Amino acid sequence: KIYPVILSGGSGTRLWPLSRAVLPKQLLPLVTDRTMLQETVLRVHGWADVMPPLIVCGNEHRFLVAEQLRQIGVEPTAILLEPEGRNTAPAVASAALFLSGIDPDAVMLVLPADHVIGDIAAFEQAVRLAAQATGSGSLVTFGIVPDHPETGYGYIRRESASSRIEGIYPVAEFVEKPDLEKAQRFVSSGEYAWNSGIFLFRTEVYLNELMQFRPDIAGACQKAVQDAYKDMTFCRLHEASYLACPSESIDYAVMEKTSKAAVVLADIGWNDVGSWTALSAVQQADDEGNVLRGDVYTDSVKNSLVRADTRLVAVIGLDNIVVVETKDAVLISAKDQVQRVKNVVEHLKHKK
Ligand code: GDD
Ligand code: MG
Repeated sequence: KIYPVILSGGSGTRLWPLSRAVLPKQLLPLVTDRTMLQETVLRVHGWADVMPPLIVCGNEHRFLVAEQLRQIGVEPTAILLEPEGRNTAPAVASAALFLSGIDPDAVMLVLPADHVIGDIAAFEQAVRLAAQATGSGSLVTFGIVPDHPETGYGYIRRESASSRIEGIYPVAEFVEKPDLEKAQRFVSSGEYAWNSGIFLFRTEVYLNELMQFRPDIAGACQKAVQDAYKDMTFCRLHEASYLACPSESIDYAVMEKTSKAAVVLADIGWNDVGSWTALSAVQQADDEGNVLRGDVYTDSVKNSLVRADTRLVAVIGLDNIVVVETKDAVLISAKDQVQRVKNVVEHLKHKK
């Protein structure tokens, strides 16, 4: 049986001012009328042999998450609450430990809550293919053919020959977030795929690898799950044990080090909506190339994204800009420099 494990703990700072610590992007209806978390849950809901999802999120988001699941009529396997985020290696480990308590043969499909997948049929096919390799103990990643030297992703180089199963390749090298020079080399070599951040493996295999490479993380999570406090709706990880856990991503903690990684190439219309430009790329633009949301007036505006949440926004005679209006903050940026909103968030953190 496959259990979707949905990671919903990030803060999505690159979509400021819409995405905030109190209301991060996965809990917002950014692309469709449903929130990204709801879309992620529904994407795999009802697939044969796929169980109800397990959500891992911050304690402060518990009611929002529970309510969003209720709205779409999905009863989760569990909602695991972190007292504070410790990045993805502990989040995945806690889910694995929780699942091994209810199903020793559980296979987990790790899904970031904040991605778009355009071709769900192709995605299901890729997952079914990957599932054939989990039995033999692989940690399967889903590779995306890269089109630019993005430094915010992991890069996967595969062995040239398939494993025993056609279409599944052993991973020769996994490099998390390389510098620009390396990323350029990887992309132009044509030998690397982006890591989509989606994984499929048996709980036991992940836990064994983590125990080997990061016994400190494995140990802390073991305590946090063992002494977790469960009620009807939530499973609260033991606070002191979880807070004592080092913060690390699954990519650095396990994927860069393991020899058990495999990759399935996935042409699934994947987009991690990591920036305002990525978001406007997955939305239908009008004849001027504009994506307009809310109460917006434009005159001679092209290739721009304009969002108004609470007021009328009028834009005149500008091209390639991003305007995002919210109740308490407004962003106006050149489209090709909008990744610098993360500096605004840093600035605000220090001001506090
Ligand atoms: N529960 C929980 N707790 N979830 C978390 C935490 C945490 O502490 N930290 C991050 N997440 C969630 C995020 O909400 C997101 O859905 C997912 O885990 C991945 O975390 P990101 O912080 O978005 O990672 P990234 O984008 O920098 O890098 C990962 O994704 C890339 C593709 O988008 C890596 O796996 C890269 O290798 C990959 O290319
Ligand atoms: Mg991400």
